[in-house]
Amino acid sequence: MNLSVQLAPKHRSVLHLANPVMTASGTSGYGTEHSHLFDIQRLGAFVCKGTTLEPREGNPQPRLAETPSGLLNSIGLQNIGVEALIKEKAPVWATWQVPVIVNIAAERVQDYARLAHRLDGVAGVSALEVNISCPNIRAGGAEFGANPDAAAEVTRAVRKATSLPILVKLTPSTSDIVRVAQAVAEAGADAISLINTLRGMVIDITRRRPLLGNITGGLSGPAIKPVALYLVYQVAGAVAVPVVGCGGIATADDALEFIMAGASAVQVGTASFKNPQAPLEVLEGIEQFMAREGIEDIAELIGAARH
Ligand SMILES: Cc1cc2nc3c(=O)[nH]c(=O)nc-3n(C[C@H](O)[C@H](O)[C@H](O)COP(=O)(O)O)c2cc1C
Repeated sequence: MNLSVQLAPKHRSVLHLANPVMTASGTSGYGTEHSHLFDIQRLGAFVCKGTTLEPREGNPQPRLAETPSGLLNSIGLQNIGVEALIKEKAPVWATWQVPVIVNIAAERVQDYARLAHRLDGVAGVSALEVNISCPNIRAGGAEFGANPDAAAEVTRAVRKATSLPILVKLTPSTSDIVRVAQAVAEAGADAISLINTLRGMVIDITRRRPLLGNITGGLSGPAIKPVALYLVYQVAGAVAVPVVGCGGIATADDALEFIMAGASAVQVGTASFKNPQAPLEVLEGIEQFMAREGIEDIAELIGAARH
């Protein structure tokens, strides 16, 4: 069976994945913490925690709240910063066979470009995922992803600053995600990933205050899956670049729905908190489905629900 997919078919350093299953940014750290939990090397790609130019402490606690069928987080991009990532993490990734995609975030367009430039040519970094969709930072983030012009401006700046393949990660919090997707594809994105979390809140009725230190957070997990699936279906029908589906994927059946909607690959996020083996179980379940259904190439399933 052939499960391999190309995420940047037109880019000169093609982003070749052995299979379509990836981690979702921010839910498996830098991968180095998880090597004892499951064999990361079996994944199609590993996406690391969002990285900024400077280290960030993130938002005040509490930063996580469980909700029915979902998780609300307001981490606020806590991370070690790009220099520490290059010094401490990239050398480890350079020894891995699984490609590592570095998720980048910034509050200003020029900082996205600086990050992209800094990561260009770093051994161990195979591609960038440009997060223009974080709901948990004061400026930038989802503001860029909500507007087609701003989204295109960030994409163009990153495109100019790096020779790495780039995925641009979209927010569901926009009135027209198709226009945003088309704008970033036109501006040079090799692939589009979606979705990031949906903004929400929880109130602690005993304290009569918002539960999260940041007041609001981003909702992820099974609760957002139908929303994510529909947005992937819409975007995959509107752009020529590969689409990576994300949002509430916990099982192979979930992943197959996204693939049939038009996703070339999928990311597993919140499900890993409950079950660290979830990404591998998703992969194994896809393999079993293909064997059962007599499918020889994953390409036969991509967009199958669209015809
Ligand atoms: C705790 C946590 C941290 C996250 N951090 C990031 C991040 O740094 N960058 C990013 O692009 N997305 C981040 N996300 C969003 C996920 O990558 C993903 O888009 C979202 O959670 C939906 O997928 P899921 O339902 O499978 O978790 C984070 C999500 C969670 C739950």
